[in-house]
Amino acid sequence: MAIAIITGASSGIGADFARELRGLSDIDGFWFVARRTDKMEALRDDLGVNAEIISADLSTDDGINILRERLETLRPEVKFLVNAAGFGNFGSFDQIDERTVSDMIDLNVKALVLITHMTIPYMVRGGRIIELGSGSCFTPLPYFNVYSSSKVFVLHYTKSLNYEIKKYGLRATCFCPGWVETEFLGKATADPSVTVPKAMKPRLSSRRVVRGCVRAALRGRAMYVTNWYTKLQHLLFKLLPDPILTRLWLGMLKHPEGGES
Ligand SMILES: NC(=O)c1ccc[n+]([C@@H]2O[C@H](COP(=O)([O-])OP(=O)(O)OC[C@H]3O[C@@H](n4cnc5c(N)ncnc54)[C@H](OP(=O)(O)O)[C@@H]3O)[C@@H](O)[C@H]2O)c1
Repeated sequence: MAIAIITGASSGIGADFARELRGLSDIDGFWFVARRTDKMEALRDDLGVNAEIISADLSTDDGINILRERLETLRPEVKFLVNAAGFGNFGSFDQIDERTVSDMIDLNVKALVLITHMTIPYMVRGGRIIELGSGSCFTPLPYFNVYSSSKVFVLHYTKSLNYEIKKYGLRATCFCPGWVETEFLGKATADPSVTVPKAMKPRLSSRRVVRGCVRAALRGRAMYVTNWYTKLQHLLFKLLPDPILTRLWLGMLKHPEGGES
């Protein structure tokens, strides 16, 4: 029996990976990992799938160890690992408190790496790892700095990992979507006293981009950039120098009253 482990399964992109992977014939069950147990139970009931619900705060060592112990005890065969748990906040270095910055790095980077490493020994040949990067990882982004920097790490880490695990018949894909319609953006811009973008458009359908990512992962692609708009951004980020890109980005931001314009 091969399973799919999905972190961040309680909402948004993670939940849509469960909906998408449910259609694959070689997935017999799921492990859903996040903090909101009720949301994961509702997803399991809605999809009618066999799913182990693992309630864990993955920004803490204790939370990561809950998953580690479950792996060591149950020794599952894993076909898919999707690391979708993550969050980001807008704001300058002095607008985001230290605790939030630390949690962001611990969840987006540390938990993703540790969960990947502890899961690989349980993965079957043909297995796929999907790591959530972002369209924000292609260039420096002031006022979204720690989040976008955490995703640069994920991009480089995943591309390198993809080479290292080929010999085991495994592949890793870094998923780089543009703005996606989930709970993420509301949380990222919840504080009215910090710098945020004037508009966050176009917003992509999570289900649609997840479908494209699963196809790319099955083909063994190291990176999946979503729609034409994000692909165009990716191309421009390669062609234009950082100072020009930074100026374009700064023009898209609105500062709180009295702030820098
Ligand atoms: N939406 C976008 O525009 C966008 C674009 C590019 C990349 N991404 C990336 O996509 C991934 C999924 O985001 P989303 O858009 O689906 O946002 P979302 O709807 O807010 O989902 C985030 C998921 O992460 C889980 N999570 C957050 N903190 C956690 C913690 N401390 N421990 C365990 N789980 C935690 C949440 O579950 P609980 O709250 O229940 O713990 C939730 O299931 C993230 O890595 C994000 O950076 C999103």
